[in-house]
Amino acid sequence: MMLEVTDLNVYYGNIHALKDVSFSVEEGEIMTLIGANGAGKSTTLLTLSGLKKPQSGTIRFLGKDITKTTPQSRVAMGISQSPEGRRVFPGLTVLENLEMGAYLRRDDFSADMEKVFAYFPRLKERKKQTAGTLSGGEQQMLAMGRALMSRPKLMLLDEPSMGLSPLLVSEIFEIIRRLNENGTTILLVEQNAALALKLAHRAAVMETGRIVLAGTGEELSRSPEVQKAYLGG
Ligand SMILES: Nc1ncnc2c1ncn2[C@@H]1O[C@H](COP(=O)(O)OP(=O)(O)O)[C@@H](O)[C@H]1O
Ligand SMILES: [Mg+2]
Repeated sequence: MMLEVTDLNVYYGNIHALKDVSFSVEEGEIMTLIGANGAGKSTTLLTLSGLKKPQSGTIRFLGKDITKTTPQSRVAMGISQSPEGRRVFPGLTVLENLEMGAYLRRDDFSADMEKVFAYFPRLKERKKQTAGTLSGGEQQMLAMGRALMSRPKLMLLDEPSMGLSPLLVSEIFEIIRRLNENGTTILLVEQNAALALKLAHRAAVMETGRIVLAGTGEELSRSPEVQKAYLGG
């Protein structure tokens, strides 16, 4: 297993946001967490990237217990997050935003920059433009491109489809598929269950801080509970 999460409990004050959350991600796969707004999906990713501390539970990555490590050391180990709401630095250019993604690296990252531009040609055309002036879809691409700059083994993607047109959503999902084919393991969080289940090898459903169902993407697509609650019938 690349990532093993065991019995995570996470609180915001007295809100119990994650309740005994356990799941794993295998090397080479796309795993998706689906669930309604407020289910705890973003909290799960924030806890994995080290920005939120769990009250209890463990996170193991590539065989090491990383539960108490800093966010920076997790990036250095190969975990990289593309946050919800395309949080780019609006006053910085596309190029500067991508450089921020490589901030832990001392080596030459120009080859990685070219790789990002190969996935996202639109970013190359706009590399001198400030990020705040990009469209929503372009900002999403930039957030993903920035996450790629640290050469992640595991990418955490928080709702990459949010607020995008159907055409852009399929473009972004196609890029996620290619990233995975080229060797990046992906943990994808989505409210768009139909698309996420189609793309993912395995999936889990979160409801009010708990994982309530898990299986292959195909199994969950066929599950009557999932169809009723997340696939519109
Ligand atoms: N910064 C915060 N302060 C207090 N409560 C929060 C905060 N962020 C999230 N929560 C609460 O934690 C729960 C899970 O939220 P979240 O992980 O954002 O869900 P999702 O990403 O699935 O929509 C919700 O009840 C939400 O209101
Ligand atoms: Mg969220």
